[in-house]
Amino acid sequence: MPREVGSQPMNMKVLIPAEAIQRRVDELGREIAAAYPNHQPVTIVGVLTGCLVFLADLIRRLDLPLRISLIQASSYRGETTQAGELLLGAEMLPDLTGRDVLLIDDILDTGRTISKIAERLKALGSRSVRAAVLLRKRGRQEVPFEPDFCGFEIPNEFVVGYGLDYNDEYRHLPFIGIFNSTP
Ligand code: IMP
Ligand code: MG
Repeated sequence: MPREVGSQPMNMKVLIPAEAIQRRVDELGREIAAAYPNHQPVTIVGVLTGCLVFLADLIRRLDLPLRISLIQASSYRGETTQAGELLLGAEMLPDLTGRDVLLIDDILDTGRTISKIAERLKALGSRSVRAAVLLRKRGRQEVPFEPDFCGFEIPNEFVVGYGLDYNDEYRHLPFIGIFNSTP
């Protein structure tokens, strides 16, 4: 469906409508809360910047005692879709010793980012590290990593919206769209 953002017409097809995302995030909230049956405190670690919209919606559906923190990871440069070296900025993390950590990211693509971050969080002394991703691309994974919670499996397309960007744009769209840079 073509859609206007600002004055810029875009060639974008809706892959997951906003309402479907909201319904799935509701379910994920229940699944995740059920996976912490003792109602123990959970430390959320969101991967900037793509996690932001998913994180904001999900935490308001999690009936658990929560702390929220963020980690910076950058592996994609400019508009390329090739992963470069992964840089982790962990300055914003609290002391994770003995904590049950729930890592939150927008998308599992090659798996390099989230597996590196999970390793780092374990090395920082957390008691458990689980991961929730909104999206998982079929046929792209290069590193073995199984997320504990996953919103949607999607085809191998470049997607934007609901936190995901193309050159830092389109994160605010309420739906997930397939982005075509050559309309
Ligand atoms: P991975 O390390 O290859 O799994 O890459 C994960 C990161 O790449 C995600 O957190 C996103 O920031 C980015 N990424 C991967 N695929 C897409 C996409 O289709 N659209 C936007 N960003 C993506
Ligand atoms: Mg990201």
